[in-house]
Amino acid sequence: MDSRPRRKVKRKKFSDKKCQIADPLPESSNFDESFKYYKQRVPLPDLCAVVNPTFPELWESHGIKRIRPETEILEDNDFENSQVHGLIHPSSWTILTFNSHPGLIYIVNPFTSQGQQAWIQRSLKDYTKKPPYKLNLDAHPEWQVGNGLPDWWEMSNRDEERSSILKKKLRWSTLGYHHDWDTKVYSEENRSNFPEELADLSKIVAATSGFQDFTAEAAIVNFYHFDSTLAGHIDHSEEDFEAPLLSFSFGQNAIFLLGSTNKNDHPLALLIQSGDIVIMSGPCRLSYHGVPRIEPISEDLPRWKGFEVEDETEDWKRCCEYLQWSRINLNVRQVKRKL
Ligand code: OGA
Ligand code: MN
Repeated sequence: MDSRPRRKVKRKKFSDKKCQIADPLPESSNFDESFKYYKQRVPLPDLCAVVNPTFPELWESHGIKRIRPETEILEDNDFENSQVHGLIHPSSWTILTFNSHPGLIYIVNPFTSQGQQAWIQRSLKDYTKKPPYKLNLDAHPEWQVGNGLPDWWEMSNRDEERSSILKKKLRWSTLGYHHDWDTKVYSEENRSNFPEELADLSKIVAATSGFQDFTAEAAIVNFYHFDSTLAGHIDHSEEDFEAPLLSFSFGQNAIFLLGSTNKNDHPLALLIQSGDIVIMSGPCRLSYHGVPRIEPISEDLPRWKGFEVEDETEDWKRCCEYLQWSRINLNVRQVKRKL
């Protein structure tokens, strides 16, 4: 079983038998209600209240403002690097803020289609290697990959039924400081290298959004399918909440709920599309958030496909197949406080 946090039913514990009069369960919060609504399959939820930040015509009525990219603090090699990492020039990024959620920053797909292709292939082929990374599959003896056996990507692309199940079973990998799902504590004993190219990408994205000192030290790569959800939670294991959370998404669309520090506040529902980046900073750094639904994209030409059909490698064809029913989210954090 996947060990990501799930919603817990809160029940009062009674030590004294005589007191076992059923107390009413606490009413579920507005965040939970909204989560349940968007998660539901029958009947399907109405998605008209979900904000698609790529539509400029919605900005004014939703208190969304476009801000200027902070390109002054970028150095020459950052601009070169941004090209290397598949980004369009930072001066033309669409960076949005939300009056309703100070500290939320939304960057509308700053990647080229080749850039998306490179990040998708890295996520599936490199960030699933064991060692150095860790996977949810590690807890399941019957689904072992890596550590002397072929890695997940190779194993899951074999021509057998077992491989196709294995493909669906991967839910997360951790890079850098490994997130410990039970203790929620990062430790020096439980860390791997952090991929250099992902650290570079994160640095450019953070700096262009106004966070000059960000160092990527940990990442959770989440793999979602149409039936996956991520329950409402707050990411609070890091030492320094001044450092933002960066979240990169590729593949199918997600409905992302962002509340506040109070679970009873009604959350904002956002549509996140391939290439979009969500930054949670400042007052929004410790806000409840979650993913109640993965929604199929409606475009014929997904953002990760170029117009030209180049000589596609077997690996890229396999990535495209995987993406038809999946979403990848790279959730990048700074763990340590800067001295
Ligand atoms: C997380 C997270 C959000 C997403 O991994 O902590 O909040 O969009 N992911 O998948
Ligand atoms: Mn999170």
